[in-house]
Amino acid sequence: MYLIPNSGMTLQDLNHRTTGVYNYSDTLSFFETKDGTISLRSSNFKELFHSLSGAKKESLEKYIYPSELHRFKKTKRLAVLDVCFGMGYNFSSLIEALRYEEIYLSWWGLEIDKTPLKISLKNSKYKSLWTNNILAILESIKNDNQFKNEYADCKLVWGDARKTINFLPKNIKFDLIYLDAFSPQQCPELWCEEFLNKLSDKLSKNGRLITYSRAAAVRASLKRAGLNVKTIFPQERMNKDWSIGTLGIKSKEKKNQEASNIFWSNLSKMEEDHLKSIAAIPYRDPTGDSSKLDIISRRTIEQSKSNLKSTSLWKRQWLHTKDY
Ligand SMILES: C[S@@+](CC[C@H](N)C(=O)[O-])C[C@H]1O[C@@H](n2cnc3c(N)ncnc32)[C@H](O)[C@@H]1O
Repeated sequence: MYLIPNSGMTLQDLNHRTTGVYNYSDTLSFFETKDGTISLRSSNFKELFHSLSGAKKESLEKYIYPSELHRFKKTKRLAVLDVCFGMGYNFSSLIEALRYEEIYLSWWGLEIDKTPLKISLKNSKYKSLWTNNILAILESIKNDNQFKNEYADCKLVWGDARKTINFLPKNIKFDLIYLDAFSPQQCPELWCEEFLNKLSDKLSKNGRLITYSRAAAVRASLKRAGLNVKTIFPQERMNKDWSIGTLGIKSKEKKNQEASNIFWSNLSKMEEDHLKSIAAIPYRDPTGDSSKLDIISRRTIEQSKSNLKSTSLWKRQWLHTKDY
């Protein structure tokens, strides 16, 4: 029987407790994205789970490709923390990408709401995306909160990630952390400096924190947490967006590090300058249980007192007439 360190509880006890405490439920509706894959719209957060351009496309371009999974062929082991599991796109795309590799996956997922997975597993369009093996793994996570075979050990802890992160085994360090929360304006709880520090602490040497967010506040917090912050490029030539996300690498040796490759590069001058504007003022949650409103208003007050340049000035200097 697996006992969660520091809690004396099994995964099932812990999940019973956390889901009981939060009893969280959102009103969700399906919509189809441009790559033909489906996603969900959340009425609580007033946001989409994925961009309109494609749910699966987003999980590949923003999470799986920048992970550069071939790097783990040597060690044959990979530890991943998937924050905001949702419908399981990032997880399933990861399993799919690893299917021909002899890499043992140790995976932990954190998610507050079981509904996205439950309703996705009843949706034929969603199910048609994945092999029977992947669907069986998802069913096992839905029913037992875990899955284990000779290639993978996967455990999902349900509840507010700000709390459940404290139940992860202290000794486990992650090679990859995927952070896929709703936007900082809608879900600031998971972009606060304190939570980002906890995530950064959980990275292994050369581990990567990967997120779709390119927000200056998030990047500045990751830098202060000691990560080397990179920008993720769009993979489509037609897409002229300046960035589709952020990758933070835990490494002290900046010198020997690649400055860029086909997926990411050092921040551009424009992006570095973004970090000198009030947009870079962090979200803060000193107690670990602040409400969304408290976090946003705390930051608005801090911004109003700041001498940093305004975000509109930064936009005028760098983005010209583009309406970002
Ligand atoms: C953008 S969706 C994630 C999409 C997901 N990665 C996928 O591949 O389908 C954001 C998710 O964050 C979850 N969430 C919101 N607040 C949370 C919290 N405090 N702790 C954990 N999960 C949370 C929502 O329930 C939702 O499933």
